[in-house]
Amino acid sequence: MTDTRGWRRWLNPALADMSAYTPAPGAFEVRLDANEAPSLLSKEAHAELALRAARIDWRRYPDAGSPRLREAIAQRCGVTPEEVLLGVGSDELIAMLLRAFGRDGKSGGGVLTLTPTFVMYRMTARIHAHQVMEVPLDASWGMSPDAVSKAVEMFQPSLIFVASPNNPTGTMVAMDHLVRLVESAAESLVIVDEAYVDYASRHQLDLLRTHENVVILRTLSKVGFAALRLGWMLARSEVVREVDKVRLPYNLPVPTQELATLVVTELGDELTRIRDTVVSERERVAARLAGLPGISVTPSEANFLWIKTEASAEEVYEGLKAQSVLVRSFHKHGGRLKHYLRVTIGLTHENERFLSALAEVV
Ligand SMILES: Cc1ncc(COP(=O)(O)O)c(C=O)c1O
Repeated sequence: MTDTRGWRRWLNPALADMSAYTPAPGAFEVRLDANEAPSLLSKEAHAELALRAARIDWRRYPDAGSPRLREAIAQRCGVTPEEVLLGVGSDELIAMLLRAFGRDGKSGGGVLTLTPTFVMYRMTARIHAHQVMEVPLDASWGMSPDAVSKAVEMFQPSLIFVASPNNPTGTMVAMDHLVRLVESAAESLVIVDEAYVDYASRHQLDLLRTHENVVILRTLSKVGFAALRLGWMLARSEVVREVDKVRLPYNLPVPTQELATLVVTELGDELTRIRDTVVSERERVAARLAGLPGISVTPSEANFLWIKTEASAEEVYEGLKAQSVLVRSFHKHGGRLKHYLRVTIGLTHENERFLSALAEVV
């Protein structure tokens, strides 16, 4: 039973069965668990970033609305600055959306997501007292348009989160299914999370022009700059103006604003090289995995692979860990996830360590 004495009686009830977000502790020789990009940044880029950091005036608060970075992101994405909102990672934007939009569970207004997907949609929604409805992905990890339409009709959500490419499956939602969802949920905001879009064969940004209820989320975290914690939201300016009202003052630190502006305006070639290297390693590793007994791989549009193991994922995960290779296992979620691992693409030698450790385990 939950203890509700003293100050505890005032705690947000959603916290009762939650724990703080903690990445797997411990030191591992090969860490392929967090979907970060491998260490591929050039010496010149490192030097340029250090030079820019050395010029920061540490006494000053940041520019409150991050106008220069906003302009740079707008240019990169082909939208206007009024259609851009910046956050401390896309995580902060997810929280801002959940603060800005309604949660009246009786007449609709909850949050709809697919499952399995990025856990922060559900966790952050619950913290903000939203009801959450999850629609399972189909057998090949695609969206079931009929099931989703039915859920939208019954639940009338205020917000619908769709990661495409999806974490952890690496799959994209079929474009016609996405359009159907956006049109059938005309009274909801559909957030298309493109955290992994740099590794995908297409993007979904055009939806912004054709449909007013679409929001796109992007981030620098997956292409080599997780340390900066920069995410951005692209939406019609009317949507941006409303969500901007819940943004905390000075949300983006000066180092993030300065260095991310440099990344976006001058290090585009580095981002392209990182992307190309990861995509070619991804295809190479996937082909090697296909030759291993008891292993199958879902084609990926992201910087990780979604791997099915005939043996229990827990056993394989522990076997890899024993060889100092850390990946992500979903066995604790039960059901069909008991046989799945998510493995981030690393440097060639890290991927080789993973492949040989896996061959030993299976
Ligand atoms: C689908 C998805 N969206 C958003 C995020 C969070 O990204 P950020 O680092 O920009 O907060 C992640 C991180 O794993 C993710 O997988």
